[in-house]
Amino acid sequence: MTSSTPIKITDTTFRDAHQSLMATRLRTEDMVPIAERMNAVGFHSMEVWGGATFDSTTRFLGEDPWERLRTFKKLIPDTPLQMLLRGQSLVGYRPYADDVVDAFVHRSTEAGIDVFRVFDALNDPMNLERAAAAVKDSGAHLQLTICYSVTEEGVLGGPIYNLDYYIDKAKELLDLDADSICVKDMAGLLAPYDSFNLFTALKQVVDVPLQLHTHYTSGMASMTVLKAIEAGVDVVDACLAPLALRTAQPAIEPLITSLKGTERETNLDLEPLLDLGDYLETITPKYRQHLETPKTSVIDARVLSHQIPGGMTSNLVSQLREADALDKLPEVLEEIPRTRKDLGYPPLVTPMSQMVGSQSVTNVLMGRYATVIEPVREYVLGLYGQSPAPMSDEIREKALTGGDENMTPIVGRPSSWDEPELPEAAAAIADISDDLDDILTYALYPQTGGKWIRIKHGIDPMPDEMKPEPPSEDGARPVAPPAQVQAGTKSHRARAFNVFVDGEAFFVEVDPVSSGPSATASMESGASASAGPAPVATDTATVQPGESTVEAPMPGLVLRHEVEVGATVESGQPVVVLEAMKMQNSLPSPVAGTVRALPFDIGAKVSRGDVLAIITP
Ligand code: CO
Repeated sequence: MTSSTPIKITDTTFRDAHQSLMATRLRTEDMVPIAERMNAVGFHSMEVWGGATFDSTTRFLGEDPWERLRTFKKLIPDTPLQMLLRGQSLVGYRPYADDVVDAFVHRSTEAGIDVFRVFDALNDPMNLERAAAAVKDSGAHLQLTICYSVTEEGVLGGPIYNLDYYIDKAKELLDLDADSICVKDMAGLLAPYDSFNLFTALKQVVDVPLQLHTHYTSGMASMTVLKAIEAGVDVVDACLAPLALRTAQPAIEPLITSLKGTERETNLDLEPLLDLGDYLETITPKYRQHLETPKTSVIDARVLSHQIPGGMTSNLVSQLREADALDKLPEVLEEIPRTRKDLGYPPLVTPMSQMVGSQSVTNVLMGRYATVIEPVREYVLGLYGQSPAPMSDEIREKALTGGDENMTPIVGRPSSWDEPELPEAAAAIADISDDLDDILTYALYPQTGGKWIRIKHGIDPMPDEMKPEPPSEDGARPVAPPAQVQAGTKSHRARAFNVFVDGEAFFVEVDPVSSGPSATASMESGASASAGPAPVATDTATVQPGESTVEAPMPGLVLRHEVEVGATVESGQPVVVLEAMKMQNSLPSPVAGTVRALPFDIGAKVSRGDVLAIITP
């Protein structure tokens, strides 16, 4: 039987599935062998690009993301290729200028993207407008997205994320000329009967195709997808079984059999998919070190209670481990809903999930809003768009004082989006390349993208850790033996940080050489590499009776001194900025007085409890 109203399937195996399960590490060379057979399956579309793939290919894999896309286009000419785009933030973590948005969308279309799934973490149409217009202009399919979220009760409804909210959002997306609309349930929180009610209601107001994207994380996804199909959803996302379930999408294979003989039959053959799955089983052992969690459970039932996406929890664990405070995880999980409420209930999706998570960690380790991390300050200032609900007075007050002047929140489009960014990016790499692929890579990721461009054009050698490694005897990647640390050589203990200076990201690797406060650090800016002498603690000043100190609340890197020795400071005035957990933390003086000493130089790595400033009252 062939259905006249088949459920259509977007396959996510080449993007979200391995992003969810193996940190986006699947290499092009391991996808190429089945690309032509995937093309022949008859998927509605294949999601192959976007999200973290751009970051991962250039940062970790030594692969050109544009080349990957062009390779797929050659091998997959018949199935529309789809990408995930973060609105004005494209495939990065901050909003870019309009000229970058336009050029990126057009170049992506040229390179092979047929369907753009465009979303904004805050569901703010302002962040979608420019990208949506560019997609329409390029002639590609514009799929606009509603991020699905809930408040504490964990189900559809409540004061914010109720049926009216989603219907209003869908209407806003239709006003932006969407060719289709996707409900994106990144945490797997959409419950089956809510899914039925949601799609039934949306079907009544939306005259373009509706699609559901969900994650298995909480264990509900197969049921949720089925109820959406019953409610008339047109397309669902799923992936091949070896990369399905856990924090990824539901599997395609059981869906085919479940719907057999019904009016929503998929019209896909099961057998070819089983062969493709067999192939994936042969390559996944190479990625074992990136496969998430050795836990017995394939689902995380706790998500049903705390509503925190799987990827966010693993981020928190690594942040806390870095801060030597893993025991604080339960407190952080309790803090997250409070912080999220203060911030006006943003959906927990990139970049809001990172912001809420990091601010919550900071709140637990340093006291609530003793430090407001930089991205949260910018969010409160309105640079990321409008919060779904009003923010608390406390966070507004804390975020808008103590930093720069001119801290007045803006409403509407940040004017900086009008100022072109591409010419500067082109100039920065003019000696290396004038290819638009490279200029865009650099514009999006000046640090890691810039490093990659140098490797790509043969200026710097490909680091060993970027090269694909053959599997060892047991199928796992070889583990490097403990290295002998020598001056000037990077050891296996080196750890990578992103440091943000005046809004620009610097990629820093820090390699401890002793257990004391000294450290070596190298900082690279843009495509040029410059390693200065190792900054160390310069002053062994001891604290005198009556003096106050600013101590490091967690291990980190001294990013800058806000004041000089001898300066007069007010109580609460920022003294030292510490980079920790990939975030800037501005540390205030506990008292009014005079700065007597700043024991650590800029760039020094410090441990928890190290004295960073001594203040004489
Ligand atoms: Co997803």
